[in-house]
Amino acid sequence: MNLLLKNIKQLIGITENSDVIKRGKAQGEVNTLDNAYLLIRNNIIDSFGPMHDCPNVSMDTHDCNGRLVLPMYVDSHTHLVFAESRAAEMNMRLHGKSYQEIAEAGGGILNSATKLHAMSEQQLYDAAHLRLENAIKQGTGAIEIKSGYGLNIEDEMKMLRVIRVLKSLSPIPIKATFLGAHALPHEYKNNKAAYIYLVCNEMLPRIAGEGLADYIDIFCETGYFDLDDLKQVIESGDKHGLKAKVHVNQFSSFGAVKMACKMGALSVDHLEVMTEDDYLALSNANTVATGLPLCSMFLDIPYTPGRQLIDKNIPLAIASDFNPGSAPSSNLNLAFGLACAQLKLTPEEAFNALTYNAAFAMEVQHEVGSIQIGKKANLILTKPANGLEDIPYWFGDNMIGSVIV
Ligand code: NIG
Ligand code: FE
Repeated sequence: MNLLLKNIKQLIGITENSDVIKRGKAQGEVNTLDNAYLLIRNNIIDSFGPMHDCPNVSMDTHDCNGRLVLPMYVDSHTHLVFAESRAAEMNMRLHGKSYQEIAEAGGGILNSATKLHAMSEQQLYDAAHLRLENAIKQGTGAIEIKSGYGLNIEDEMKMLRVIRVLKSLSPIPIKATFLGAHALPHEYKNNKAAYIYLVCNEMLPRIAGEGLADYIDIFCETGYFDLDDLKQVIESGDKHGLKAKVHVNQFSSFGAVKMACKMGALSVDHLEVMTEDDYLALSNANTVATGLPLCSMFLDIPYTPGRQLIDKNIPLAIASDFNPGSAPSSNLNLAFGLACAQLKLTPEEAFNALTYNAAFAMEVQHEVGSIQIGKKANLILTKPANGLEDIPYWFGDNMIGSVIV
């Protein structure tokens, strides 16, 4: 696509390069340009500048007329491929059952796995494709998608093949993560070691051999997988060239952050429960801390302490965690509102968490995540707005007028 955007009220999130993640004070720095133009050639940001320098070219032109233009969000943690709704579990929670109790009663991740097993690859693709289109409409311009509702080699590979097709047909960058260690299947109820062996020594080699995954993940949590499992999964990932992006500290803290950081994980995600040791490990590491406020809202659990993470100079990303159990929403506009209202981030800090820093959390920082010459022109055009803060301020609304991908 070639297109000239004119009369942009404010162009937001401009960078000259994307070599260093934003942490501490830099997390709150956002470069903007008032009354701007932006020129797209072959889907790439070709140039931008003040309106008085707008080139006089004959090409398709769009008058932005009072709208803001910003890079699309980067959703670095989702489970977008899944069978179907688990709304019944919401009702169970409203009647007093906890997320863990529902899982123990046969709901949760195992429930999703049973449903996914019964679906064909095509059915799974069709449902995921619709969800992806919806996420894009809501402003998502790059996305990471996990497996983890298969829990056996055939179904895990089925999910990853669906992600591969999405990758090849989607207009936005997609990364795939192998999450075999998401929950213990019934058959392995009393033999966790055997299941981890299967994940690391049978599933992973085949998946990596077919190039079906970019990253590896594990749900390291009380009642799911422990530190030994975390270590084995990260080591096995390393052997096959897959960096780790891991679920840690959702309900409890027992050293997983420290171990993941020490082992060079790309990101540690959730972090609702944090100790001083966890902060210390993160501040000495190159690992991106990722908060998932939609999950906190939906399950009514603590929010990731975003303010403290930034104040401790730890780079923060925010993602949706879109999944049928703990976060049935891909709406990063709402996550933006929660990041300000609940994580106590400034609009600028939250914006960087949702764009520039999230791009680092899935290694697409040289393609998307900011307004930079040479990056993909995946852009949000807002509704008429005064400034960036209008997005989190109108938190229940969607300030997106349209998107360009
Ligand atoms: O990130 N916590 C583990 N995995 C997902 C939830 C999966 C599910 O409930 O289906 C999460 O919250
Ligand atoms: Fe998740």
